[in-house]
Amino acid sequence: MQSITSVLIYNIGQLVTVDPAWMTPENPLGLIRDGAIRLEDGKIAWLGASSEVSRADYSSHIWLDAQGKLLMPGLIDSHTHTIFAGDRADEFEMRLQGKTYLEIAKAGGGILKTVTATRQAEPRVLQALTRQRLQRMLNLGVTTVEIKSGYGLDFESEMKCLQVLKDLQVDAPVSIVPTYMGGHDIPPEYQGRTDEYVALLCSQQIPAVAEQKLAVFCDVFCEKGYFDVAQSRRILETARQFGLKLKIHAEEFCDLGGAVLAGEMGAVSADHLLNISDEGIAALKSGGTVATLLPGTAFYLRIKDYAPAQKLLAAGVPVALATDFNPGSCVIDNLQWIMALACLQMNMQPVDVIKAVTLNAAMALDLQHDRGSLAVGKRADLALFDVAGYNELLYRMGSNLLAGVFVGGRHYTRADLAASLG
Ligand code: NIG
Ligand code: FE
Repeated sequence: MQSITSVLIYNIGQLVTVDPAWMTPENPLGLIRDGAIRLEDGKIAWLGASSEVSRADYSSHIWLDAQGKLLMPGLIDSHTHTIFAGDRADEFEMRLQGKTYLEIAKAGGGILKTVTATRQAEPRVLQALTRQRLQRMLNLGVTTVEIKSGYGLDFESEMKCLQVLKDLQVDAPVSIVPTYMGGHDIPPEYQGRTDEYVALLCSQQIPAVAEQKLAVFCDVFCEKGYFDVAQSRRILETARQFGLKLKIHAEEFCDLGGAVLAGEMGAVSADHLLNISDEGIAALKSGGTVATLLPGTAFYLRIKDYAPAQKLLAAGVPVALATDFNPGSCVIDNLQWIMALACLQMNMQPVDVIKAVTLNAAMALDLQHDRGSLAVGKRADLALFDVAGYNELLYRMGSNLLAGVFVGGRHYTRADLAASLG
């Protein structure tokens, strides 16, 4: 790994800016052929055609030959549950024997199984596990990862997980955006008393999370058997009063009305949306809410009907894609693979997929002013792929095509990444 220095990358086959300033109807990703980009102090200082830069002007810079490869904004995984202990490999087998995700959860598996393991885990263990997972994501070209709590579900354990994330932010290999999700499930000690649990979150956990600045977002699992719309509204309203931004897990297994709630409350994103109604789509549009689709979860749980990406796009709702990486419903941590899956299973076009993991994913984290596209002044978060163009990145699904990555101007080569994976 290099320290942050001034770098000039040239001979970029396709420089995919995703910057509206470069976009035209014929060039919807703002692509520059034979491009170059200059990075200074961890930010983008300039970008344009290779022919416009001369060695004489930037002789003090490190010059990096991209050898005709694809350079694009670092990938943003805007929905993950990366902090947890234990595993649920037994549930994989149960599902193959015909049990559904919700049946397994009711029988004592599911989220609550991971809660038991996470409560027991020491902070240093959780930190090591999470760091290792982030390293794997960086190795795939991901430079920003949103991480939800929600496997603690009591005051101490939720705080423990969020504090681990805060500590990790100091020297994690990627940027972390922490989300508080005490409303992920009803803990065993509150079974049958969901309203009381919601009251506890609102009076105790949310104020403490906000006061200690442990999270940027609050999320809730609005789903039959978990939190209904009224309970979700209560959690999100309290979170908003305490200055947290809002996300929601909505319409994953049934259409409960979480998307309408998200639109009404102006949530930053509504996620999953497999069973979203037309009314829900209209609400997202009018609320300026990003639809975050997680096709890996449908794939992993073998749900036939994926989220209606085409309808959402046609309605003009910004669509983001993320992994939903977690130990139960989707163990896939590979956003490159999810991108190709979105093409194949939701018929998303490559242009929409690239936007969905860059600028729209940044919007889903309210970070679009800072990252998600290549423009002067934005963070130097870049992914270099060993392909000639973005179509090839999707077409060659299955292997890791990353050639190198920059995080805030810090360069990691393939060799650096391989070494840090151990
Ligand atoms: O997004 N839906 C709720 N949470 C996760 C599943 C978490 C788990 O099964 O551990 C999800 O699918
Ligand atoms: Fe999730």
